[in-house]
Amino acid sequence: MVTKIAAGNWKMNGLAASLDEIDLLLPQLNPAGALAILCPPATLLAQMAARADGGALLLGGQDCHVATSGAHTGDISAAMLRDAGAQFVILGHSERRSDHNENNADVAAKTRAAWNNKLTAIVCVGETEAERDAGVTLQIIAEQLEGSLPDETTPQNTVIAYEPVWAIGTGRTPTLNQIAEVHDFMRSALSTRFGETSGGDFSLLYGGSVKPGNAADIFAVSNVNGALIGGASLKASDFIAIWNSLSAS
Ligand code: PGA
Repeated sequence: MVTKIAAGNWKMNGLAASLDEIDLLLPQLNPAGALAILCPPATLLAQMAARADGGALLLGGQDCHVATSGAHTGDISAAMLRDAGAQFVILGHSERRSDHNENNADVAAKTRAAWNNKLTAIVCVGETEAERDAGVTLQIIAEQLEGSLPDETTPQNTVIAYEPVWAIGTGRTPTLNQIAEVHDFMRSALSTRFGETSGGDFSLLYGGSVKPGNAADIFAVSNVNGALIGGASLKASDFIAIWNSLSAS
């Protein structure tokens, strides 16, 4: 069974006052629908967890260090995220890959750190605009999946998010056919590597300018099992509209 997931990535946005959005969100979610996850900045994680209080909203971090603790000024470990109330962590987001030079091997090491601390990894892959223009999108996705996912990856410990870099925060999205092409490709690559049964069970999220207005169309695409949502996750009404579309899909 593939789990439908709407995951919100607040990125470096949100102050204590932003937690009021959670109070608007909580009464509208129910466990019968898609899984709802929010990944706030680490400063808000524990407070958000307290408000979510074990209900239908689950929480995640946006990155973690490979080590559990130690002399790494400014970094956050998977153990700390777990301790603050997270059950998930986004890894290998394109902003981490570009701003912090993270490569596939780094992402794989972080993925193991996440698992070791009982976090489910949300591993991101996606091509740049230059790579799409050069016609190497599927090759890039194949390399990122191969290098970022450890051999012990399962649908239970890892969720995959396809995020074309050029669609993130731009208001531009690939055509539905382009999304289908990559998602079908990922499904088959995962089935080849991890076996048909496991491969079929991975939750494959699309991310990049998902909004209430395009969500239903995207969720109707083959092998799209949910979304990783940036900007639209900051507003409870937008996030809930996307979650409703997914739950109804
Ligand atoms: P966006 O971001 O929805 O604002 O395009 C998506 C993401 O980076 O996860």
